Amino acid sequence: KPSPSAAPERLPFSRVTLQDLDFFRKVLPGRTITDPDLLESSNVDWLKTVRGSSEVLLRPQTTEEVSQILSYCNSRNLAVNPQGGNTGLVGGSVPVYDEIVLSTALMNNVLTFDSISGILTCQAGCVLENLSLYLEERDFIMPLDLGSKGSCQIGGNVATNAGGLRLLRYGSLRGTILGLEVVLADGRVLDCLTKLRKDNTGYDLKQLFIGSEGTLGVITAVSVLCPRKPKSVNVVFLGCETFEQLLQTFQLCRGMLGEILSAFEFLDSECMRLLNTHLKMSNPISDCPFYVVIETSGSDSTHDGEKLQNFLEEAMNLSMVADGTVATEDSKIKALWSMRERVTEALTHEGYTYKYDISLPVEQIYQLVTDMRTHLGDQAKSVVGYGHVGDGNVHLNVTSPAKDPALVAAIEPFVYEWTAKRQGSVSAEHGLGLKKRNYIYYSKPSQAVALMGNIKAMLDPKGILNPYKTLPDDLK
Ligand code: FAD
Ligand code: MLT
Ligand code: ZN
Repeated sequence: KPSPSAAPERLPFSRVTLQDLDFFRKVLPGRTITDPDLLESSNVDWLKTVRGSSEVLLRPQTTEEVSQILSYCNSRNLAVNPQGGNTGLVGGSVPVYDEIVLSTALMNNVLTFDSISGILTCQAGCVLENLSLYLEERDFIMPLDLGSKGSCQIGGNVATNAGGLRLLRYGSLRGTILGLEVVLADGRVLDCLTKLRKDNTGYDLKQLFIGSEGTLGVITAVSVLCPRKPKSVNVVFLGCETFEQLLQTFQLCRGMLGEILSAFEFLDSECMRLLNTHLKMSNPISDCPFYVVIETSGSDSTHDGEKLQNFLEEAMNLSMVADGTVATEDSKIKALWSMRERVTEALTHEGYTYKYDISLPVEQIYQLVTDMRTHLGDQAKSVVGYGHVGDGNVHLNVTSPAKDPALVAAIEPFVYEWTAKRQGSVSAEHGLGLKKRNYIYYSKPSQAVALMGNIKAMLDPKGILNPYKTLPDDLK
């Protein structure tokens, strides 16, 4: 029996012909790539676990070019895989078979920035880190931050509704994205690129495309509400003896730091071992079973410093925290953050990694890791937990020396049933892509999934946009 994450059979899309290539070359001269060496990196995902066999990579620069490509592909019944920075973790960003890769990499212009409202409009292919640098020069920041910021693009962030390290403070992209421009499967351009905080004129169509993983349209431009750059930032790295104490620290922190708390992230001692072993990163404090990264950002360093000091004293007095270090200057802040941000990278050196991205009531998030360790015994090389405590989101990762079907059979459906029993989500922030599409029913009722199918059929009747992704195979 094939695994539910394995690709279904190729659907009867057309194959790219020489005439098709002639058309693409006319629309995108010098930007229609067919050299297999150049296509290699677009065919393989970041984790190197999913590989497609596309023979064409298209690199449009304008919305009009995207529109011409999709209109043509739709009329020819050619499947298309929208691709941003290709940092997705669920196999959604690469073709499964020979889908044409439509990359937004050259759509990388900032369009407008309003320094009164803090509203930025830009093309979808802008790299997140470049947008952050652009904004920081103007005393603003992006409302989201991810470990993949150097490669991921804002269009990909919106298409996955990425969460990341700042969600606790600035909320999800569903709130901070104010407008979108999207090219639909048949080439129509949907211009909802508004720059308004409030707009209740009818249905909020942009929400359909946020988190739609390239299956409903190609996002070509976005408008984002950006916060002011905080004047004072502090980061603390703390160690806790138990997860219970970590949760108490979180509660205390929310109460005592209040409006200046901007992140509360965690990693366990297994993550620390991987950072030490594979990336030669040393623990900045003494060894503990759990570590937290807390960030404060505010407008008054004296006020923020005092609040933080009071919180740390209280946490120590109450014995919630075993050890810790504080950073106020930029280089140490970055170094402490990298202990959390580079866990994903460290895991890739450990072996084949099975990734689970689960959200739950916050007090239960680590129980999943503990139960999985007990459940797997010595079948796994390592079972690690890290994630976004503030968002009730744990990243459970299980590694093995190589791909191991017996190990997968032990993890799944155990992990999904465990999550569903507690009304959690089987994909908190990474999406479903290819790998998780058939597990959607663990977190969504069948009526909701059927309605998603209706929406897909309305917006993309031929199903050319990112086939085999997000929606389950049994959806007809
Ligand atoms: P891609 O990987 O290229 O594509 C992702 C999906 O979006 C695909 O389905 C693709 O078809 C679709 N897509 C891309 N661009 C468009 C577009 N313009 N229009 C329509 N569809 C499009 N994710 C989090 O949520 N939180 C994290 O903290 C986080 N940290 C990460 C850390 C590391 C080290 C890595 C490798 C990944 C991390 N991710 C995280 C996952 C990933 O970076 C995000 O999902 C990111 O938003 C993907 O952006 P991308 O540009 O790379 O998109
Ligand atoms: C993270 O929070 O580090 C990311 O979501 C990536 C991952 O899950 O590995
Ligand atoms: Zn995450």
